[in-house]
Amino acid sequence: MPRDTSVPEPLHRILMDRTVVLITGCSSGIGLHLAVRLASDPSRSFKVYATLRDLKAQGPLWELARARGCPSDSLETLELDVRDSNSVAAARARVTEGRVDVLVCNAGRGLFGPLEAHELDAVGQVLDVNVIGTVRMLQAFLPDMKRRRSGRVLVTASVGGLMGLPFHAVYCASKFALEGLCESLAVLLLPFGVHVSLIECGPVHTAFYEKLEGGPGGALDRADAQTRHLFSLYQRHYEHILQEAQDPEEVTEVFLAALRDPQPALRYFSTENFLPLARLRLDDPSGCSYVAAMHRAVFSEEQVEGAEAKARALGDPKLCASPAAPK
Ligand SMILES: NC(=O)c1ccc[n+]([C@@H]2O[C@H](COP(=O)([O-])OP(=O)(O)OC[C@H]3O[C@@H](n4cnc5c(N)ncnc54)[C@H](OP(=O)(O)O)[C@@H]3O)[C@@H](O)[C@H]2O)c1
Repeated sequence: MPRDTSVPEPLHRILMDRTVVLITGCSSGIGLHLAVRLASDPSRSFKVYATLRDLKAQGPLWELARARGCPSDSLETLELDVRDSNSVAAARARVTEGRVDVLVCNAGRGLFGPLEAHELDAVGQVLDVNVIGTVRMLQAFLPDMKRRRSGRVLVTASVGGLMGLPFHAVYCASKFALEGLCESLAVLLLPFGVHVSLIECGPVHTAFYEKLEGGPGGALDRADAQTRHLFSLYQRHYEHILQEAQDPEEVTEVFLAALRDPQPALRYFSTENFLPLARLRLDDPSGCSYVAAMHRAVFSEEQVEGAEAKARALGDPKLCASPAAPK
């Protein structure tokens, strides 16, 4: 890429030396906030390529960037659809620095409802974006990081990748896949000086639930009456959980901590609320304890009615030691 000679050489060097970050899924939510947070960091040490599936949706990103006084040369938008390898390659070719130091695989889609209510197309879309989309990004950017013996990959991961959640089966399958993908790569990458980290998020206030693939629930009439009843219980439970969701700005700080960690870990957690249940899964590898505890937490009617339902569901160790849960 020829150098822009209108920029004096010393300034050109400073600009080229910045940490180059490329983020997927920046039209809203975590990606949007992370892009603006990094691009407006007082250190001015980041050049951020905020990528979007559709550039027509970039308005809110620039609005926040303006509100934060983000320097114009720190933030650039590129079109990138993680379902399309040509789109990934075209975006990569537009990175003027010729390298990406930090890749953030953030683009993701949700799918919510009984399994039999989902169209298979919707299932395919979610797996394509969440799993294969991440693989496409890694295939495009990892080889250069390995060659340069330097680079960071941050993947927006989820509590749904650490434990099964009813009515999120396909979403959980996609996020479990990312755990296996990233953990496997982390083992390989140790001698390359390239680090992969999963940023494990609990519920976050974003457009995620407005953008669910196939809308909330899907074709509910395909599910039996008992499943529909359990789904309605779960929806009430879920409303409580969402009320306690984290702000995306809180979550972006976890990305920053991971990015600045001199010895990057494989996992960072945006909240500790779900760790007791995650530990329960590991303590009883048969899975029986977790399944029983989670079922009670989300489907028992009194708990759904109770004001403490969401705290119990996600964090109360007493709940995890449920007598109904065989060890
Ligand atoms: N919100 C939560 O509670 C939560 C919890 C744990 C983990 N997460 C994860 O956080 C990540 C970001 O989600 P969010 O909560 O910030 O929700 P969001 O506001 O819906 O953001 C999702 C982003 O992904 C983009 N995207 C979807 N399909 C894409 C594609 N084919 N190519 C490129 N971009 C695509 C969306 O773009 P469009 O607007 O163009 O569709 C949007 O910018 C996801 O991976 C999600 O699984 C979210």
